[in-house]
Amino acid sequence: MAVDVLLGLQWGDEGKGKIVDVLAPKYQVVARFQGGPNAGHTLEFDGFKHVLHQIPSGIFRQEVQNIIGNGVVLDPIIFKKEIDGLLSKFDLNLKGNLEISKKASIILPTHRLLDAAYEKAKGEAKIGSTLKGIGPTYTDKISRQGLRVGDVISPNFLEKYNALVTRHKSILDIYQFEYDLAAAEEEFFAAVEFMKEFNLVDSEYSVNHALTAGKTILAEGAQGSLLDVDFGSYPFVTSSNTVTAGACTGLGIAPKNVGEVFGIFKAYCTRVGSGPFPTELHDEVGEAIRKEGREFGATTGRARRCGWLDLPALKYAMMINGVTQLIMMKADVLNIFEEIKVCTAYKLEDGTITEQLPYDITDITIEPIYETLKGWHCSLEGIRTFENLPAELSAYIAFLEEKLALPINFISTGPDRDECVLRGSFA
Ligand code: GDP
Ligand code: IMO
Ligand code: MG
Repeated sequence: MAVDVLLGLQWGDEGKGKIVDVLAPKYQVVARFQGGPNAGHTLEFDGFKHVLHQIPSGIFRQEVQNIIGNGVVLDPIIFKKEIDGLLSKFDLNLKGNLEISKKASIILPTHRLLDAAYEKAKGEAKIGSTLKGIGPTYTDKISRQGLRVGDVISPNFLEKYNALVTRHKSILDIYQFEYDLAAAEEEFFAAVEFMKEFNLVDSEYSVNHALTAGKTILAEGAQGSLLDVDFGSYPFVTSSNTVTAGACTGLGIAPKNVGEVFGIFKAYCTRVGSGPFPTELHDEVGEAIRKEGREFGATTGRARRCGWLDLPALKYAMMINGVTQLIMMKADVLNIFEEIKVCTAYKLEDGTITEQLPYDITDITIEPIYETLKGWHCSLEGIRTFENLPAELSAYIAFLEEKLALPINFISTGPDRDECVLRGSFA
């Protein structure tokens, strides 16, 4: 068996949570491989709307084993809140269905303070971080001084914690950042005790034993490919590898064991936080997309920036990820338009026209070149088959398939689990 990977091809919030939830019944294991509470994955079913931050989106399918992989940065305080939130609404066997990698990194309260201090110091140049402590926690991991989930059961945990916090405090002093840590620390240690009651495992064995046993595994990405620390719009990125390769390092999967790569994209683009966004619309069209798509962050509530679909960026993401299946989200949001634009190339400052993503899209101006397609201008409600899609939407899909050289066999037409139009291997 192989591990299928599901990830976002844009700047995050493509709708990954919904699709993991929809596909989960086909899998025995769902595993998150990177990111942390900066993610907000929304699931809607039976009239419920639930946002998951660190817990994999297979959690509502009782028969699925969910794993928080070693590539994740985990905040115990948020973990406890998430678990309490789930148990207050649903009857789930979380201690049985959820494993946490001992090698996952732990976000400390001081990591969150450092995130805030760094962002404040950047002023206008701030990344627009979710301020969940993601960057500082990955920094400590790479500089080989971080704490990992497995450390909480070590007799030296407190010593290790104090050593790291002392270092953090000296940095916060340099930044002249004021803080009060007492309440957060108390909450943190209570949450650590809570976390110890869960299955803390060597998840690379869980995943590989599942593979050997012929089980089906879905790796769930967070953020999006254009936020990847290597391939995204650096420095306006997150601090992990959000691309397919991140599933290998974030779960301990050999590259030869990667199967399908499901690439998810919205029928348009959004971005939350700072950084370049070539097709961003600053006018009433952008505003209409935001309103119609309810484009407000699932983690921070911030308004998402909106714009037309960007094919050079999408093709780049498909290339880096080796996408084998495309899934288009939020087609229904474009119902309101008589005309829909798609960026097919960029015009650079020197007049060059290119379909490639230039090295730097922050400090140079790139002008999107658009093709205009006819909108369908009608509701998609109740439509469940490709044959019943309005002709203009079928033409939009065919246009994209031709440009992207891959079929789009899954169209999402609303937030609910049931609002999907499938064909081919998905049907
Ligand atoms: P994720 O981070 O990739 O899981 O995506 P988010 O949950 O942050 O954002 C996606 C938003 O779009 C959520 O509010 C979903 O409920 C919603 N959504 C997902 N698919 C669709 C769709 O096809 N149409 C509409 N209108 N909303 C959708
Ligand atoms: P999901 O999984 C959208 C963005 C932040 C900021 C940048 C760095 O829901 O798609 P960080 O907190 O990682 O230091 O922020 O990345 N960002 C996201 N944008 N969806 C996300 O996750 C994001 N996670 C981080 O807004 O611009
Ligand atoms: Mg999200």
